[in-house]
Amino acid sequence: MSDEKPFLNVLKNRAISGRTPPWWLMRQAGRYLPEYREIRARAGGFLDLVYHPELACDVTLQPIRRYGMSAAILFSDILVLPQALGQEVRFETGEGPKLGDLDLSRLGYKKFKEVLSPVYETVSRIRGALAEEGFHQTALIGFCGAPWTVACYMVEGGGSKEFHKVKTLAYADPEKFQALLELLTEASITYLQAQIEAGAEAIQIFDSWAGVLDEDGFRRFVIAPTKKIVQSLKQKYPEVPIIGFPRGAGTLYLPYVQETGVDGVSLDPSVSTGWAAEVLQPLCTVQGNLDPVRLMAGGDGMIRAVEKILSDLKNGPYIFNLGHGVIKETAPAQVDMLKTLLRVS
Ligand code: CP3
Repeated sequence: MSDEKPFLNVLKNRAISGRTPPWWLMRQAGRYLPEYREIRARAGGFLDLVYHPELACDVTLQPIRRYGMSAAILFSDILVLPQALGQEVRFETGEGPKLGDLDLSRLGYKKFKEVLSPVYETVSRIRGALAEEGFHQTALIGFCGAPWTVACYMVEGGGSKEFHKVKTLAYADPEKFQALLELLTEASITYLQAQIEAGAEAIQIFDSWAGVLDEDGFRRFVIAPTKKIVQSLKQKYPEVPIIGFPRGAGTLYLPYVQETGVDGVSLDPSVSTGWAAEVLQPLCTVQGNLDPVRLMAGGDGMIRAVEKILSDLKNGPYIFNLGHGVIKETAPAQVDMLKTLLRVS
């Protein structure tokens, strides 16, 4: 037996997971939990909560106290990075994020440290709280958005269905777009290093919109910047595992794993777990990929889907997770049900 936390053991030593893999859920801290909604209301805005180390730490621990996941993830958001670089970011209730006009020449590091230092303080508080509350087997994940996905929000000015603006910039003005990606890559490295210094034990890179690019775009804007982030972090912190989540990458999951150097890859629900066991698991640890709607809908469908995933991926290094974040209408009791299926205590 390794004395490593199970989540880290599977990532670092490629331990075979068997039928009871380590587990956590993307967006495990959030609006489906009444105790989150209570603190969120007290904090005021979403960003007020993110930049309040005491409350953000408390919110991070909420799902761990209820369910005892194998990993806690820093409570923050991928859009604190553009905010720290000087672009205006707002969260309007029920509407998602809204960003101010993008002016590349005005982005920079002047306020970077000042804006992000509460996030680093949250990380170190969480490490302390996990130990203090007796969660000795729970690892702490730090994260950032991948440069491509963060650029999507910065150029579109918020969420999008088609991503025409950002794709047009990327395809029609590659030099300007490259400058933006390079800035984001460099800023992400600085941001993640500081999270590791503050106590993050693993890193996840969220590339939620990786799936909207063609192959050439995917290689340039998803694989290349991610590879650079992984290489930089590995130089300084070779012992800190990195999980990549290129959501919607389809067959490009394979070159993503081969070329970026990630220790783990998070699969969206569309990826065949049989294929992943055969093709991806020999190369890296696999995480995922229950459809969040299966968790919300429950019943026999959820039971069968969980059993299939566990059975397909049990012979290699594997971490149970959803294929995307917990949906806010999910009943918390569904997660108890899921825990029973995972046979964890
Ligand atoms: O528990 C966790 O997973 C940690 C915290 C976390 C949040 N966002 C909290 C959050 C993490 C890791 C993220 C990542 C994130 N943020 C991503 C990548 C993952 C993904 O979902 O694809 C993206 C694209 C964002 C950007 C973002 N943040 C959007 C588009 C929205 C609005 C949509 C929504 O769900 O409201 C957010 C807000 C957000 N981030 C909330 C939470 C808990 C809800 C805010 C609230 O309380 O009102």
